[in-house]
Amino acid sequence: MSDPTPFSAALRERSSRAHSSSESAGFMSDLVEGQGTREDYVALVAQHWFIYDALERAASEMKDDPVARVFITDKLTRLPALEADLAYLVGPDWRDRIEPLPTTRRYVERIAEVGRTWPGGFVAHHYTRYLGDLSGGLFIGRLMARRFGFDTNGIGFYLFDDIADPKAFKDVYREQLDAAPWDAAEQERVIDEVLLAYRFNTELFEDLAAAKRVRVA
Ligand code: HEM
Repeated sequence: MSDPTPFSAALRERSSRAHSSSESAGFMSDLVEGQGTREDYVALVAQHWFIYDALERAASEMKDDPVARVFITDKLTRLPALEADLAYLVGPDWRDRIEPLPTTRRYVERIAEVGRTWPGGFVAHHYTRYLGDLSGGLFIGRLMARRFGFDTNGIGFYLFDDIADPKAFKDVYREQLDAAPWDAAEQERVIDEVLLAYRFNTELFEDLAAAKRVRVA
């Protein structure tokens, strides 16, 4: 009998369509293809702040959980970099000048809920953001730097100073996903939560596009 598909491969396969939808959302593809403005980029960084604030609070709630703690490491922590980016991009009063969009509010509520109650759900959100940041995110960071003339200021979020080899890091992460003690039903629930996380990201791009239309009207 052949080996069953590892969970990490099934997860990747089952979420690839949702990944494509996020990747090709108009707001994101405009930014990547050079039609997005610096203001659009800053609007995205601001929403990231709310999302990573929730994610990293959830990580501290989950840090003693035997399943979730395997995935949690300071090497991934993004909030200080986001705060430095916002201080540079928006100014010292950035906290008073940013607000979560409707999808961000719902996304953040969901992260907080699973962070209190469900290790597998927390891992689903952790995976969707951080593995994405260590994949397409690295490319997006370089692109934004080139397009808007940032050196490291403004794109600190995309620089993982403590992860020298993102590919090796992601390989270990996938091994940890494969080793998680989830039965088939729990694996399905985790996959569904990853699909939900992708949906939040895609809908956030739609909110950002709508907010932009208001801005330029
Ligand atoms: C223009 C936008 C994007 C580009 C160009 C992009 C590109 C990529 C690429 C090339 C990979 C594969 C890397 C590899 O094989 O190791 C990847 C993986 C991934 N991306 Fe994206 N991505 C984008 C947006 C997103 C968004 C919005 C999310 C969700 C928040 C996301 C989440 C992920 C995840 C979780 C993976 C890892 C899949 C796995 O190996 O299990 N990506 N991305």
